[in-house]
Amino acid sequence: MDKLTLIRPDDWHLHVRNGEILQHVINHTARQFARAIIMPNLKPPVTTVKQALAYRQEILAALAPDSNFTPLMTLYLTDNTRIADIEAVAQSEHVVALKLYPAGATTNSDAGVSAFENIYPVLEAMQKQDVPLLVHGEVTASEYDIFDRERLFVEQQLSVLTEKFPDLRIVLEHVTTEEAVRFVETASSHVAATITPQHLLFNRNAILAGGIRPHYYCLPVLKREKHRLALLKAATSGNPKFFLGTDSAPHPTRLKENNCGCAGCYSAHAAIELYAEAFAQANALDKLEGFASLHGPDFYRLPRNQERITLSRESWRVPGHYGQGSLQITPLKAGEEMLWKVL
Ligand code: NCD
Ligand code: ZN
Repeated sequence: MDKLTLIRPDDWHLHVRNGEILQHVINHTARQFARAIIMPNLKPPVTTVKQALAYRQEILAALAPDSNFTPLMTLYLTDNTRIADIEAVAQSEHVVALKLYPAGATTNSDAGVSAFENIYPVLEAMQKQDVPLLVHGEVTASEYDIFDRERLFVEQQLSVLTEKFPDLRIVLEHVTTEEAVRFVETASSHVAATITPQHLLFNRNAILAGGIRPHYYCLPVLKREKHRLALLKAATSGNPKFFLGTDSAPHPTRLKENNCGCAGCYSAHAAIELYAEAFAQANALDKLEGFASLHGPDFYRLPRNQERITLSRESWRVPGHYGQGSLQITPLKAGEEMLWKVL
């Protein structure tokens, strides 16, 4: 197969930031995807519908004139989120979900939820109004090993949430372990998961073996090979609980190549091509359309896209970086060869 035509995909987990960097990254996404779930972890975080609508306008203004792209907005759940905020989301045409970060889990997550009991009334309201909850699934206490944090979150906290709120639609974002995959597979149809391209293509050796490579460092961190294989199997299984979410998370190169480098891989420059590479490796290109274009809208109860895109088996080289100076971003697979290209 040298050409692959798909219903135009959507990205169900994306960071585009705001200000100048937004202008540089949004059109990489809009080139391939029809819609994207926009993460709310700005500084300060997006916590109200009013803020989300203002952020949406900023995104729309940054799009190239000929693009046809819809940002789907989210709010950042905090200890102070009110029931009225949930009602406002339920009524909003543009804000579709809330994102739960355990406090301290990742980039700009200081405002996250300190204990889930604090937000039970809010989760109750979300369940009632049928507003999806998007979860960054890692425990955060410093005594936990970073490679165990997702598994422990699933065991200790997610299982409590799904039991207490059985009708709440939950997306476990960017799953990275076989334990998370198994949890999602066996949970009710209200529980789904996104998977990133880096977790399908790389294991933790990419960060640490033969030299330290900060551009492969994201959270949840890449895991062992057996976990990568479990993710690849889930993504290519045709199971509608698994769908595309790049977690493309741009940071300036100088803040990644740093004594204390930021977490986040930038993949928007070649997202669907990276997924095609992973699916081709698993001999499962026929499953890419379900994962990239069908399962997500079905879970979010949004219409499937009508347009199509075509990928061709054609090699090209990823630039060493995009942008310059304080805005320079080093993409995933910088300087390396890609095997698929969007036409
Ligand atoms: C994300 C970011 O930089 O905003 N980083 C990451 O490593 N994934 C935060 C997040 O999604 O956890
Ligand atoms: Zn993210």
